[in-house]
Amino acid sequence: MRYLHLVIYFVIYVDSKELPIYMRHLRCPLTHDFKECFIEKGTAAIPLIAKGDPEYNLPKMNPFEIPIVRLLESPSMALNLTNLKVYGLEELKIIDIEVDLKRRMFKTTLSGQNVTVVGEYSVDGKILIMPIKTKGLFSMYLKNGVYIATKIDHIEHKSDDIYYRPVFDPLEYNFEKVEFRLDSLFGQNEDIGNQVNKYLNNNWENLMAEFGPQIARILSKIITDIFDNLAAVVPVKYIFLDDPVFKF
Ligand SMILES: *[C@@H]1O[C@H](CO)[C@@H](O)[C@H](O)[C@H]1NC(C)=O
Ligand SMILES: *[C@@H]1O[C@H](CO)[C@@H](O)[C@H](O)[C@H]1NC(C)=O
Repeated sequence: MRYLHLVIYFVIYVDSKELPIYMRHLRCPLTHDFKECFIEKGTAAIPLIAKGDPEYNLPKMNPFEIPIVRLLESPSMALNLTNLKVYGLEELKIIDIEVDLKRRMFKTTLSGQNVTVVGEYSVDGKILIMPIKTKGLFSMYLKNGVYIATKIDHIEHKSDDIYYRPVFDPLEYNFEKVEFRLDSLFGQNEDIGNQVNKYLNNNWENLMAEFGPQIARILSKIITDIFDNLAAVVPVKYIFLDDPVFKF
């Protein structure tokens, strides 16, 4: 019986922590001054968080690495992206936030001049009737992106403390332009390769209609993981500065 108790205690015990030390001076009070504070302090926190922190399960983001994305998996075409590196996340800036404190809703707008994904691609399939099976290097430059992340913080009681459980809406995004570059798409035939690159770049808006949601899912996962991993171990009382007026 005693053994059983110990086991159960172990399972539900949450090892609560304060925010990482480099973020503690960047907290904001939940008052009407929250917006300006969060834009300034939140933006200052991004490059610090981007260094990664194993203690809080925060991945390194300068660059962020993704082993494989299976971008297309249809009967006529398989397209994998591997060994991806996402550059430029540490330079994202918070440019706006809308807050509804009663609902604990935070709608954060971020901007990034240059988020660039580089990696390898491999494709196997048919375009019309022409078989294509090749691989090479690729890059994708997301120029002047605006990203809107909306979350509602739900409340959870764990081990005598109160924690947030953030729930995100799908990420909204918009780019001024997206530039693709695929190398050695058709082996030695540079002409066809250049044609394909030209085609991709002239049709980036159509391509983004197809691949944009996948890319947004990747970026969204990076953002939500940060909040989820912090919120999992840092109780509410350590997240915002204490505010004598506003209390949940
Ligand atoms: C964007 O970032 C990538 C990776 O850091 C860099 O190689 C590239 O030159 C940058 N592009 C522009 C237009 O600044
Ligand atoms: C894509 O990756 C999957 C899983 O690793 C593999 O089975 C498949 O053959 C790959 N397809 C291409 C075109 O590389």
